[in-house]
Amino acid sequence: MKFCARLQNSNNMLYFCRLMTTILDGKALAISLRGKVKEEVAALLAEGHRAPHLAAILVGEDGASQTYVASKEKDCEFVGFQSTVHQLPADTTEEALLSLIDTINNNENIDGLIVQLPVPKHINANKIIESINPAIDVDGFHTVNVGKLTINEDTYISATPFGVLVLLEEYGIETRGKHCVVIGRSNIVGRPMSILMSQGGRDATVTICHRYTTDVAAHTKIADIVIVAVGLPGFLRADMVKEGATVIDVGITRVEADNITGYKLKGDVDYDSVKEKCSAITPVPGGVGPMTRYGLLHNTLKSYKKKLEL
Ligand code: GUN
Repeated sequence: MKFCARLQNSNNMLYFCRLMTTILDGKALAISLRGKVKEEVAALLAEGHRAPHLAAILVGEDGASQTYVASKEKDCEFVGFQSTVHQLPADTTEEALLSLIDTINNNENIDGLIVQLPVPKHINANKIIESINPAIDVDGFHTVNVGKLTINEDTYISATPFGVLVLLEEYGIETRGKHCVVIGRSNIVGRPMSILMSQGGRDATVTICHRYTTDVAAHTKIADIVIVAVGLPGFLRADMVKEGATVIDVGITRVEADNITGYKLKGDVDYDSVKEKCSAITPVPGGVGPMTRYGLLHNTLKSYKKKLEL
């Protein structure tokens, strides 16, 4: 076993002891970081500045999207941001949505705009994202911001990859020279995550796996860091992970459960078995999710400071 300590007792007997697994507690870290944002906002208000303002647009009635937007609204309230949620019916036309975005783009007092994805099928999501002013695209989804991220220029890093980077850094997880396998190539998580992990500062060697990767386990078994974002509960099993690896679970899938809500959240990692084998792991819930929420607050505050030249 590689992931163990070689110890010697008082009788000079050698024995091996498996090291504890670090639970990467995104919930606790996000609470602490959110507290700092709240303090900063209070100080700005005390100096006579207006509050940062995040606008969110939600089209349709998808339950998970409604929950996410409600959480974002709650976070804004907690830290002292102003927030406006535009809840539009599912049959909203693309034109009407573009018109609302244009109005928000031109509102000097709004620092961040997000359109919750997915949008209904009759709306072209790329067209919507491209219509957002990149300066207030705090999701970091606009091609201008994605381009800047790609060439390592200052930009809004989308909330989930940003949250993962902060989590790795705060827990002192070494990335330089490590082999990082990212599973999933979405524009929101996998793709930016893979780019960021390979960039200067992180300096990891990155492999990206996706639905056409013939043998995902062949890659993950030799990875020092595995980041999974596929939306398949329990996808990453213990037999796919190297002893002592760091495992980051981005998946949050609602699965049926016999409780008051009727569902529970499951990650992409088979947590109970993988936890026994790795050196560090994010739980679901309480890992990447809260860090994502923090990422959006961070980006909105960043936009606000740029706008007010603070
Ligand atoms: N849908 C799932 N994740 C996200 C996100 O981070 N931002 C937006 N706008 N929609 C999402």
